[in-house]
Amino acid sequence: MSTVALKDVTKIWPDGTYAVDNVSLEVQDGEFMVLLGPSGCGKSTVLRMIAGLEDPTRGEILLNGEPVLELPPRDRSIAMVFQDFALYPHMTVSENIGFPLKLSGIEPSPRQDRVDAIAGALGIGEVLGRRPGQLSGGQRQRVAMGRAMVRRPGIFLMDEPLSNLDSGLRAELRAEISSMTRELGVTTMYVTHDQAEALTMADRVAIMRRGVLQDLGTPTEVYRRPATLYTAAFLGSPKMNLLEAAVYVHLDRYIALSFGEQTLYLAWSDPRARAVARYHGERIVVGIRAEALTPVTPDTQGHVFQGRIRYLEHHGHESLAYLDIGATAIVVDEIGAALTDTRGQGGGAFRRLGGALQRLTRPGGAEVAPEGPGGVATDPGRHHRKPAELAVRLAPYPQVSHGHPLAVSVRMDAVHFFDQRGDRIDAGWR
Ligand SMILES: Nc1ncnc2c1ncn2[C@@H]1O[C@H](COP(=O)(O)OP(=O)(O)OP(=O)(O)O)[C@@H](O)[C@H]1O
Ligand SMILES: [Mg+2]
Repeated sequence: MSTVALKDVTKIWPDGTYAVDNVSLEVQDGEFMVLLGPSGCGKSTVLRMIAGLEDPTRGEILLNGEPVLELPPRDRSIAMVFQDFALYPHMTVSENIGFPLKLSGIEPSPRQDRVDAIAGALGIGEVLGRRPGQLSGGQRQRVAMGRAMVRRPGIFLMDEPLSNLDSGLRAELRAEISSMTRELGVTTMYVTHDQAEALTMADRVAIMRRGVLQDLGTPTEVYRRPATLYTAAFLGSPKMNLLEAAVYVHLDRYIALSFGEQTLYLAWSDPRARAVARYHGERIVVGIRAEALTPVTPDTQGHVFQGRIRYLEHHGHESLAYLDIGATAIVVDEIGAALTDTRGQGGGAFRRLGGALQRLTRPGGAEVAPEGPGGVATDPGRHHRKPAELAVRLAPYPQVSHGHPLAVSVRMDAVHFFDQRGDRIDAGWR
């Protein structure tokens, strides 16, 4: 049995960077957990701490229920595959894969049996005599995985193992890695910034941003019910439409969500109505995925947005229309790697995100470049408002074009509500 647990783990680099900020997480025996987040959010640091390559500043790491901070990497029964999967160039594939066994003193004959078995499982049995220089990128990656797996680790850590490969090969290896780790029943933590990888491979996904855990659940849970505005904005393609709405409660009728020129009505019978009603007179963020929008005829009544097509994108199997509906969008921008976090004390992403949104929702506050004391950016990303371009799915190559009017009905039960701190409003509801 192999489990991994992080308890309130924080890693602060000497320069004050919070690489990992109070993360707690448990990976069950045999589970495939994906750690997802943008560059610089602390994913590799989490893996490296589990492997014992870095020590946490605070908090505990437990393997199989036992604290391991004193345990050196080689005693942790962990194998790790890195992004650059360095192989020994002067050794053959067979020697590369067998090397960890040789180090542990296993005799040549049983060693070769294990190498042959794992190479067969990975589909590289034919190239065992070649050197890494004579392999394709995908084959090299399989060799690196073979070398990691050959000692039959209890825990398998993979840090963006596919990011150096082209997209076709990535999709192929994605399926192979999932099925291989499941067949072997090995507990796996897999790091990626690619949401497609996360959603297709994971038993559960942990979503990180700037060192803070944002959401944790099965792919379906985090996609269908994102816990924060950030997760909502991060998962899904096209991106979720995030619109600013003012809430007006009409006790005898409904809750009106005003998007400027247009209004949606939340019925009192909706299980989330009371939670949303608490925001009477305030502005919230309403999230609507493209799949919750259906084109309808212009005279349709009910939950309908009337818009005009700003532009179209053709993707072969579908076309996306972006509609101007006179609403305001909240943009949760993502930031690149290595922004130094200079804040002195805790506070967490929610509060920081909240600050940004509050500034945004102040009357008259259009674009905001959040600045902290001394002009240092303290927000986790730049969030701003802009005229909404509502993404709507259409059949491929539709008979409409730029400037064309289009009405879309909104499936109210598929709409998400977030408060100004970026938290889900109906958190208790299922
Ligand atoms: N040795 C180090 N010293 C100081 N800061 C570091 C060190 N290693 C990483 N960092 C910083 O810690 C933060 C998290 O880094 P980490 O490598 O864990 O990110 P990541 O999520 O793996 O990103 P990527 O997707 O780009 O690999 C970043 O801001 C990074 O610049
Ligand atoms: Mg990394």
